[in-house]
Amino acid sequence: MATFTCLPENRSVPIGPQETVLDALLKEGIAHTNICGGRAYCSTCRVMILEGADQCSPPTEAEKALAKRLDLPFHVRLACQTKLSGYATLRRLVFDSGDLDIVDQQLSADAINQERPVALLAANIRGAVDFDEVNFAYDIVYLMGRYFSRMQKCAARFGGEIPNVMGKKLLAVFGIKNAGLSPAEQAVWAALAMLESVGELNDFLAQMRYQPLTVSIGVHYGSTVLVPLLAGQSTLLTPLGETAVGVNRLEFKNQELGSQLLVSEAVYQQLKGRARVGRRVSLQESLPLLDAYEILGMDGEAPQIASLETEGKGQRALSFLKKFGFSWGKRR
Ligand code: FES
Repeated sequence: MATFTCLPENRSVPIGPQETVLDALLKEGIAHTNICGGRAYCSTCRVMILEGADQCSPPTEAEKALAKRLDLPFHVRLACQTKLSGYATLRRLVFDSGDLDIVDQQLSADAINQERPVALLAANIRGAVDFDEVNFAYDIVYLMGRYFSRMQKCAARFGGEIPNVMGKKLLAVFGIKNAGLSPAEQAVWAALAMLESVGELNDFLAQMRYQPLTVSIGVHYGSTVLVPLLAGQSTLLTPLGETAVGVNRLEFKNQELGSQLLVSEAVYQQLKGRARVGRRVSLQESLPLLDAYEILGMDGEAPQIASLETEGKGQRALSFLKKFGFSWGKRR
C-alpha cells in the first residue's frame, strides 16, 4: 500500500490503489475540507503536491475543468479526484473560514491568478493640498461626494468599474465586462465624459462660490493582474502590475504638461484614428518607455453601451454550494 506525508500535520497516511487522497485523509481522521463532498465543484479540498507529482493519477475531466476555470497551477490538485501509486508529500491548503473566504473570492471571480488585458483610467484632482486647506470638512465631504458620484456614473456609462479610490485619486478598470467596444475606447470615452462632467460641476460650484476643480486623467492598456477584493463581488477587482504603475505615471505627467488627458501608445492604437490629438511626448522616467498622446476629443457620437455582460460565471461562488450543505472534515 502506498503512503503519503500530509503537512502541516506531518503524518504518514496509507492510501489504497482505489482511494482518493480525500478518502485516505478522512479515514485517517484528518478533517480535510470538502464542501461539495468530492464532486469537483468547490476546490476546497485542494492540496499542493510538494513531492511525488509523478505518482499522482492524471486529473479527471471534472478536475481539469475546475482547474482551468480557476487557473490552478499544475502542482495544486483536488484531493477528491487524485489517487496515488507511490510515495508523495502534500500540503493541505484550506483550513479555516479565512481560507474559505479566499476560495469564495476566487470562485466568484472565476480565477485565482486573473491576468487579462484591461484599460485602466487614473483620475486625480490637481491642487489637492490647496483643496484640503481652503475648505471646511463639510465642504470637502459635499464636493467630493458630488465629484465621485459623477465619476462613478461616467465610468459605469462606458462599462467601467471603480474599485480603487485613494484620497482625491481614483482608478477605474475597463474590459472586465463585455461592452462590445475595446476597453481602451471605453476608457477614453469615459475620460472625456468625466472631464465634461467636471466642467458642469464647476459651473455649479461657481454659483455656490466654491473654487473650481481641476482634474487630470491618464489611460493605459495592458495585461493586468486583477485581485478580487470581496467574496461574492465578481467585478470588484483591484488591478496590480506594470499597467497600473504606467497609468499613474501618465496621469502625473499631465501636471507637467498642463494637459488634462494623456493616453499611452497602446490606447492610442485602439482609437482607430478617431482621436483628436494634441501633443505627443515620451515619459523618460518610465520603464519601459511610454509614449503618451494628449487627447482633446473623439470624432463622432459617444457610443451607447446598452447591456453589459460579465464574462465568466461569477455568481457560482461557495454560497451557491450551500445547497450541498457544509461538509467540513467528513464525507457527505
Ligand atoms: S472539489 Fe473536492 S471536495 Fe469539492
